[in-house]
Order: sequence, then C-alpha cells, then structure tokens
Amino acid sequence: MREIVVFGGSAHPALTAEICAFLGVPQQPVVLERFANDCMEVQLQANCRERDVFLIQPIVHPVQEHLVELLLMSDAARGASAARVTAVIPHYAYGRSDKKDAPRISIGGRLVADLLVTSGVNRVLTLNLHSPQVHGFFSVPVDHLHALRELAGHFGGHDLSNAIVVSPDLGYAKSAAAFARRLGLPVAAGAKERISDTEVRITAIIGDVSGRDVIVLDDEISRGTTVFELLARLREEGARSMAVACTHGLFAGDALEKMAAAEGVTEIVCTNSAPVPGDHPKLTVLSVAPALAEAISRIHNGESVSSLFDQ
Ligand code: R5P
Repeated sequence: MREIVVFGGSAHPALTAEICAFLGVPQQPVVLERFANDCMEVQLQANCRERDVFLIQPIVHPVQEHLVELLLMSDAARGASAARVTAVIPHYAYGRSDKKDAPRISIGGRLVADLLVTSGVNRVLTLNLHSPQVHGFFSVPVDHLHALRELAGHFGGHDLSNAIVVSPDLGYAKSAAAFARRLGLPVAAGAKERISDTEVRITAIIGDVSGRDVIVLDDEISRGTTVFELLARLREEGARSMAVACTHGLFAGDALEKMAAAEGVTEIVCTNSAPVPGDHPKLTVLSVAPALAEAISRIHNGESVSSLFDQ
C-alpha cells in the first residue's frame, strides 16, 4: 500500500494536529513564504513521490489567502509526483456562491472547484456543504460528510421532552429533519428570504414552536443575521428557550457575543470545522477531527466512507 502523507495549511493548524493524532501519523511540515511582490510560495517538506497525499485546509477567513495556499500545495504535491492528492476541506466557504441569483455574477463555488481540480486535486473530503448540489461542482470524487452525529450526540444528553428542531430556511429543512429524527424530535422551518449579506427576512415559521425549547440548526453562522432574525420570530411565536447549533461556527465580528447575550438563548454549539474566533461560557465546540480522521483512513485503505455520511 502507498504511504500516507498528511500536510496542513495555515488555516487551522489545531485541527490538522488533532486529525494527525487520531490517524497516528506525523503532520508533515509546510513552509509558506511571501515575496516582496505579495506572491506566495509553499514548499512541502516531505517526500510525496508515489505517496497518498492529504492536504488539510478549510477555506476560511482570509479566504483568498487560504485558497491560494491550498492551490499551491496541491500543485506542489502533483509536481512532486504524488500518487493521489486529496484536499480535506472541512469548510468550503465558496459553497455559498452556488447559483446565479443576480445578473452578471460568477458562480464562485463552481469556479473554485475547477481551480482545485486544475491545481492537481484528485479527490475532495469535505463537511456540510452549503447546499447538496455544490458536490456536483467538482469533477473529481467528493466525500461529503456532515456533523449531525456529533451535534445530536451533544443534545442527546439534554432533557428533550419539550424540544423541537427549527431550521431557519426550507433549504436546510431536510438536514434539520434528519437531525430531529436522530433525537426523536419534531421539526419546523422558517420561510426565509435573503435580501443581502447583512439582511434576511423570515416571514413565518412552519410548525408550532409555542412553549417549546427550540434547537435552531443551521449549516453555518457567519454574521448571525439569519439566526438573529429567526430568534426574533421564535420569541414572537412564544418559544420557551432557544439553543443554537451549527456545523461551521464562523462568528464574524461580534456575532458570538451578541448571540450569547440574546434573550432566551441558552447555549450555542458548533464544530471545529473552522477555527472558532473567541470563546464564551455558553459556547460548546465539538470536534470533527475523529470523523475526518476516520474518513481519511478509509479513503487511504480503499474502504467505504458512505456509512459516515448516511443521514
Ligand atoms: C444561508 O443560507 C446559510 O444556511 C446560513 O444561514 C448563512 O450562511 C448564515 O449566515 P449569517 O450568519 O451571516 O446570516
């Protein structure tokens, strides 16, 4: 069997270290340099020839920097005669750019997928893409995991006798339903319209949340605009308490502090798919390193990964 070689970019060293610890393999060093003209250069510091190479890099803030770094790592691995290059992208930020919903805009999710493949990526391992169709933007195999098991494991220890799961929009309702099924709970969804990056409107909640302990579930929290709008509707509809859960806790600006301080919010739960900026007593960060390490191990050994992404 070809030797496994794991490199991590600069986006999330803690996650790379955790994944390597679970895999029981060393994390190979990468040297990143920036020239006076602002161009980057990466050098992979371990032999790649005929090796099974994994490059771990969530595409997170600063997105453009981390993306180019991953492209350069992939090109370097291919140029060093890697047998296979798998990009492990726990958060694929450009996934939100998945449709042409305004004139003369680019579908960035598709373009970035093409760039990754052009740079030498043979396979992608990722987590909770913004929408399922983003998977199809890649012309190479994609293993698309979710974090519902981790999130459900957390809430499984709670008193859920009065709980209901609420998705902010109909797009995520299917995943919210799968999550609710794991916990034996009912599900509701918001009728959401995004006006701009900073403004969303939720006109109604489909389902009865009155007097319930709500678990809000979304794929990501960025500025928190979506969740704040949903919390306002939930209060109007008489929800008793609100926990907020997501896979990708990006928490731009002061979103985390504002959310923790919001009336009725009991806790906030996310995973470490992206580095979580800041800390708060109400915040729990669950690790996806064991799931990603298991998937990497199965990919390397040619075993089925599907049981890891079954909803
Ligand atoms: C959007 O459709 C996603 O599912 C999330 O609701 C969105 O990305 C969250 O962004 P923000 O926190 O800025 O509203």
